Amino acid sequence: MAVQIAPSILSADFARLADEVTAVSNADWIHVDVMDNHFVPNLTLGLPVVESLLKVTPLPLDCHLMIEDPDRWAPGYAEAGASSVTIHAEAASAPIRTLRAIRAAGARSGLALNPGTAVEQYADLLPEIDMMLVMTVEPGFGGQSFLDVVLPKVRRARELIKGRELDVWLQVDGGVNAETIERCAEAGADVFVAGSAVYSADDPAEAVRSLREQASA
Ligand code: DX5
Ligand code: ZN
Repeated sequence: MAVQIAPSILSADFARLADEVTAVSNADWIHVDVMDNHFVPNLTLGLPVVESLLKVTPLPLDCHLMIEDPDRWAPGYAEAGASSVTIHAEAASAPIRTLRAIRAAGARSGLALNPGTAVEQYADLLPEIDMMLVMTVEPGFGGQSFLDVVLPKVRRARELIKGRELDVWLQVDGGVNAETIERCAEAGADVFVAGSAVYSADDPAEAVRSLREQASA
């Protein structure tokens, strides 16, 4: 599958979100980090902001829910119009029901794994998902250093997907930048979230172009 780049607006200026998403119109997705200050020690945004973003960007929204009780909230993001909704394996108590509800509402379903969560434990859920997100930092904040220790898991996730002949995208999120993206691509990732690497750049669109080029090399 072709490389896809998903800038995370966590590193954007929240007072100018419409401009900030327009600045990366050459991206494939807009990655939206929803944090509830319980599952992770940080608080960001929720459904009202997602609904507003949908009105100002033609790009599909990739909602990454770092929240407790995703079973309760995730379907609402799909119903609102998010094109992809990812829940955390560690937080879901009924993941199969929730992943199916996301798909039933017309969105792609995603399952995220924290750095310490084993992928083998969730291998049986692969048929229920359209994307697996392997976190390459502990979730909660932008601008953290990439955890190389997670790369073998990216590789194993790709092998599991391939072994089952499934069309599941493999996303990495956290510390993805010019220095680390090639290692992620080499390990088998095909969807790349980048927050600070895009929004700290003088020219965010150029950063997207260049990350895409590096990941495709
Ligand atoms: C972290 C979020 C990421 C974050 C990545 O918990 O899930 O999406 O925005 O930021 P960078 O790319 O700066 O590590
Ligand atoms: Zn994220």
